[in-house]
Amino acid sequence: MGLQVASEPKNTSESKVPRHIAIIMDGNGRWATKKNRPRSFGHRAGVEVLKGTIESCIKNNVECLSVFAFSSENWRRPEKEVHLLMELFLTMLKSQAKVLHNNNIKLHIIGQREAFSKAMQTKIKEVENLTHENTGLTLVIAANYGGQWDLEQASQSLLKQHSKQALAGELLADNSIEQHLSTYGMPEPDLFIRTGGEKRISNFFLWQLAYCELYFTDILWPDFDECEFSKALKEYSVRQRKFGHTAEQVQELKQN
Ligand code: IPE
Ligand code: IPE
Ligand code: MG
Repeated sequence: MGLQVASEPKNTSESKVPRHIAIIMDGNGRWATKKNRPRSFGHRAGVEVLKGTIESCIKNNVECLSVFAFSSENWRRPEKEVHLLMELFLTMLKSQAKVLHNNNIKLHIIGQREAFSKAMQTKIKEVENLTHENTGLTLVIAANYGGQWDLEQASQSLLKQHSKQALAGELLADNSIEQHLSTYGMPEPDLFIRTGGEKRISNFFLWQLAYCELYFTDILWPDFDECEFSKALKEYSVRQRKFGHTAEQVQELKQN
């Protein structure tokens, strides 16, 4: 990845650019099959497209990019494919650690990492520590992640932290669940993109997508280039977000 992007003014709440984009990078397998190549060919191409997407996010002053790399249900795939995906992930972490760091990117891996090999767990910690103090794009890779798992682990962590008595009040308090989710501290996703034509969430961010703008495209992930990324940003820029208000209220709020 040769990220050379001039720094531009920071994204503001007034801006029509999403602060946080969450992507389900789907369609690698079908892309490869169409080309009479093994599914692994599609996954490799997918990694290259992710590098381009990171560059596009930096160019557009997006603060946070979350990508779904491996779901908690993807273990159900043939062993060979799972093995390849794990290998690709580890290779990517190894080869891109310095590149991410040099580009001021902060990396977070979310999901149940205990299921990964020791080597992978060590590498994850290493890259997270290396990039911990970076102030540019936050890159979140969801690996062995499931939205249901996130809500379960958040509830368990909440229960552990509080005595039964305190909990009754705590559960009623705003944000109590949110503070225990894997994404705590990040802005909530503004734009959700799913490539590959399926119109579902597939157990990605369940809580976090509450008010997110949803964008579905038939483009398969390995074809999701800068032009396709711009189309998604353009579509987002004309959406009116109301968060429960009326359109008139939104206009008024803008003017004040
Ligand atoms: C997404 O592409 C990548 C992962 C799930 C790891 P797919 O592998 O799901 O591709 P399709 O949907 O079979 O084409
Ligand atoms: C979602 O894609 C998971 C990732 C992209 C990592 P899937 O291809 O696994 O989703 P389903 O099975 O079609 O819902
Ligand atoms: Mg798929």
